[in-house]
Parts: sequence; C-alpha cells; structure tokens
Amino acid sequence: MMIRTSRLSHYLAGLILLLFFSIAALSRYQLRDPLPRSISESRTDDTKYLSWLPHGDFTDQHEAFRNAVRLGKELNRTVIAPMLRLGQPLPWQPFNQLAEAYTQDKQLQQQACHDTATPATCLQQLNEWTEIPWSSLFDLKAITDAFGIPIIERTSGHGWGINETAHQVQDPITDVVVLDVMTFIENATFHHDNNPGSKIKKWGGYLGRQFSIINQPRQQISGNKPYLKTVIHSHQWSALQHRQYIQFGALSSTPRYQVHTTSALVDLRQALSHSLFVRPDQMKPLQQQADQVIKTLGGTDNFSTLILHLGKVVETDGRVNTTQGKLTMDDLDVPTQRELMDTVVMELFGDVPINHAVAAALPVKPDSSLATVLSQQHEQVDRQQLLDACLDYRHRYDEQYPIYYFASDHIPIPALRPDIYGPLLSHFPCLFTKADLKQWGKLDLKSWTLPFLQDQGVDGETMFSPILDILIAGQGYSFFEVPLSPLTRFVSRQRDTSTDNSTIASSPLV
Ligand SMILES: *[C@@H]1O[C@H](CO)[C@@H](O)[C@H](O)[C@H]1NC(C)=O
Ligand SMILES: *[C@@H]1O[C@H](CO)[C@@H](O)[C@H](O)[C@H]1NC(C)=O
Ligand SMILES: *[C@@H]1O[C@H](CO)[C@@H](O)[C@H](O)[C@H]1NC(C)=O
Ligand SMILES: *[C@@H]1O[C@H](CO)[C@@H](O)[C@H](O)[C@H]1NC(C)=O
Ligand SMILES: *[C@@H]1O[C@H](CO)[C@@H](O)[C@H](O)[C@H]1NC(C)=O
Repeated sequence: MMIRTSRLSHYLAGLILLLFFSIAALSRYQLRDPLPRSISESRTDDTKYLSWLPHGDFTDQHEAFRNAVRLGKELNRTVIAPMLRLGQPLPWQPFNQLAEAYTQDKQLQQQACHDTATPATCLQQLNEWTEIPWSSLFDLKAITDAFGIPIIERTSGHGWGINETAHQVQDPITDVVVLDVMTFIENATFHHDNNPGSKIKKWGGYLGRQFSIINQPRQQISGNKPYLKTVIHSHQWSALQHRQYIQFGALSSTPRYQVHTTSALVDLRQALSHSLFVRPDQMKPLQQQADQVIKTLGGTDNFSTLILHLGKVVETDGRVNTTQGKLTMDDLDVPTQRELMDTVVMELFGDVPINHAVAAALPVKPDSSLATVLSQQHEQVDRQQLLDACLDYRHRYDEQYPIYYFASDHIPIPALRPDIYGPLLSHFPCLFTKADLKQWGKLDLKSWTLPFLQDQGVDGETMFSPILDILIAGQGYSFFEVPLSPLTRFVSRQRDTSTDNSTIASSPLV
C-alpha cells in the first residue's frame, strides 16, 4: 500500500512536471510565433515615435522642429529630434537622397577625403558645417512640461528608423513607416499597404533582431521637383496609429501635415509662437556675447538690426547677367553695384519705421559731434568715435536717430568700401558690425565655442554667427532684412515675447 501510494505520487509528480514543461515550451513557442491579431494589439502600449530629416538653414530647421512638436501632440508620439545643423545647409531633396545625405558619417567622409584628388579642399568642405543638440540653444524641457510631449535628442550618429542612434530610445525599433508628401504621391492618401501578411512575416523576425523597413519606398518621383499639392488631412492619421516609428522627410512645410484643431493644439500653436521654443538663449556664453553687443549699441530698443543678404540680391536682380553662373557683388561692374545699392537704400527708406526714415533724411545738426566725425572720409573715421557720436546724437538731439547693428554676407566693414556702400552710409552712417565689436573687445565668438562643437576643425565664429544675430536682433527696436526671408518671422516672434513698442519692418526687395 505504501509502495503503491508513493508510486502513484511519483507518477502524478512526473505527470505534473511534464505538463509544466510542455506548457512552458508551448508558451515559448507561441511567443516565437505571434499570432497575427496580437501584433497591433500588443504594440499599442509601446512608445511610439516620430522623427524627420533636417534640411535647410536655421529657420527651416526650426520650423521643422515646431512642426514635429505639433505632430507629436496630435499623434501622441515621442519626438526624436535630429541635431541642429549649423553652417552649410543640406538643401531640400526627395526623401531617399535627403536620407542618404543626412546619414553620411563625418568621420567616414573624412577618411574618404584622403582618397580624393584634393583632400584639403574635401576636408575643408566638411568643416563648413557642424551639428549641435537643440537643447544647447532652446529649452526643450519647457515644451515637454507644458504640453506633455516627450522629446528625445539624437546626440550622436545619424541612424534613423531601425538604426536609431538616439541613446534614450531603449526598445528596439522594428516597424518604421516613411512619410513625405513632397516626395511620395501615395502619401497624400495612404491608399496602399493594407496587406497585414507582409507585416507579420517581417515582425516574426523580432527575436533575431532582423529588422527591416516595411514598405521600402518604391515609387519615387523622377527628377528633383517636389509634389506641390499633396497634403495629409487630420482624419488620415488614424491609419498610422499603431505604427511604431514614423519617419518624415523634410518637415518644414506645416500646412502639408494637418492636425485637428483641438484646444490643446491651438494652445500649443499659441505657445510656440510666443513663449516656447522662441529664443535660442540657453547657451550662456553666447547670450552673454549678445548682451554685450546690445549694451554697446545703446541697450534694448535703442538700436535696430539690418541684415543684407547681398548674395541673394545679386542672384535675383534682373539687371545682373546670370548667364556666367553664380555671381557675387564683387563680380559686378561699378554702375551695377551702385544701382543695386541704391535699390537697397530705397527699400530701406520705404520700410524702416517712419521716424527712422525722417531722422535719416534730415541733415545732421552741424554743431553735433556726429557732424564733425562725418565730415571726414568714411575710411578715416575712427569707428569708436563714430559710435560715441551716434549715441551722443540720439541722447542730445534726436532720440529716433537710427543706430544699426549690421550684418551681411559680403564684407566685414562696409565703410571700407564707400564705392559700393556710399549710398547706404550717407543716409545711415551709424552702422556697426561684428568686426567693429570685435575690434572694441565687445565680441569674441572664437575663444569659448570649442566645447560646444563636436568636431574640432570647424570655426565656431562662423557656426554661431547667425544665432548671435538672432539674439541681438530680438532686442532691437526694429528689424529689417533684404531680401525678406523667414528670419523676419522668427525674429518677430521674439519681439512678441518682450516689449511691444517695437516695429518689425521688412520688405521683399524682389
Ligand atoms: C499616449 O501614449 C502613451 C505611451 O506612449 C500612453 O501611455 C498614453 O495612454 C497615450 N495617450 C493617449 C491619449 O493616447
Ligand atoms: C541601417 O543600417 C544598415 C547597415 O548599415 C543599412 O544597410 C540600412 O540601409 C540602414 N537603414 C536605415 C533606415 O538607415
Ligand atoms: C509613403 O510612400 C512611400 C513610397 O511609396 C512608402 O514607402 C511609405 O510607406 C508611405 N508612407 C505611408 C505612411 O503610407
Ligand atoms: C535707451 O536710451 C534711453 C535714452 O538715451 C535711455 O534712457 C535708456 O536707458 C536706454 N535703454 C536701455 C535699455 O539702455
Ligand atoms: C550675358 O553674358 C553673356 C556671356 O558673357 C553674353 O553673351 C550675353 O550677351 C550677356 N547678356 C546680357 C543681357 O547682357
């Protein structure tokens, strides 16, 4: 009896063990081979992402980021931000080309340079751009805190989608969908890919980490012309709600990616226009430099900013014979240079605040120190003396008399080329540039920039100049650029956040 009982219990114990193992094995087997229905359901709790390919200058990239934040809110997704590219921009390109251009690793490119015929030129070109994390300029946490949109930065590498290199992305990326209405005509309607079979087959590879992009771009536009009319409508997004990772192409066009007008999104748009992600003021040394310049030029609201994109003026002016390729101001003959500058001055008069125009048109009071300084040849004027005289003139005679912070893509000190800049300087003599401020020891963009740059070869001064201009312009009384660019809108948003008694004047020259 004893023996039989123990035998039975042994038998039962064995049976239980067997059952246990087979259940364990079965469940493991089931894990390895997920059922079709489990795919979208099991993924609904996972973090969903979106990212984009950066292109264009600072304002394009900033617009793309704003757009991504907006879509992050609409789609309840974590935004993976590529770094901000400074210096030579990546031009707009169809998705595949842009992805290829973006993904190229600078170190590999540097090695490749050594195999080219002109390694020095090749390396120099690589040093014309660099990347920094957005958070080194903007307070991204404020966006997350105010609107609950998680933002992750890709601070090294250029891997996107299944190759994501952002360190904070912990879960493997297994499901990537590419979306670019400017490149793929299909994306305006999403009317493709409802074949879950193909998804499952690829999904089945997840244990072995054999990831692959679902829906490799097939039909691509020929040539480099973007599709102009395609738009994603807000009701279409639901088709993508279970996809893990949405990879956009160039994202600077906001109207192409529509969102619902919920109150949260209206609030977000409002905030992004007035308070959040508006001022690139997080890099303390850069802000200090800007503050020093502002103080030197008379303080907040006591100076204005004038930016001349002369390259663009020349490029787009009808009088310039462009059959010889890209020309700069220096390639033109003297009469054409004069004519262009006269046009710029006319634009300025038409569009600067009226009080500036009047002050600039009146003769300078003869007994002022400014009159004395200006009686000398432009080239011989002591620049510091000129600034003092300008400040004194504002203080004593005419508080509307314009003092300009001037930046252009041409030469550092316009006063040294009165042949070209004469017409401008005769009406607006109080024009000061970075070169002046450097000379006076009020500006130094070289000595502190290194720790903020990932690569050693790049010139910090060139890279950070446009951001410095923005920080300075944001504190001026008015802002004017020729020709008009999105920079004006960017600067005016900063003005909206501070005092209101300023004017943003601007005008397209062409
Ligand atoms: C948003 O996504 C997170 C996970 O990424 C999830 O926990 C949350 O419930 C989602 N919220 C909405 C409103 O869908
Ligand atoms: C991911 O990396 C592999 C190997 O380098 C490459 O073949 C593939 O094209 C990459 N995919 C993406 C989306 O970048
Ligand atoms: C957009 O079009 C491309 C090319 O056909 C395709 O690979 C991608 O999956 C499409 N994206 C969406 C969201 O439909
Ligand atoms: C601007 O100039 C006025 C008059 O010269 C002066 O009173 C004011 O303090 C200046 N503003 C700043 C911010 O320095
Ligand atoms: C522009 O330059 C080309 C080559 O120098 C010349 O043949 C052509 O006549 C010029 N056109 C005008 C409008 O001056």
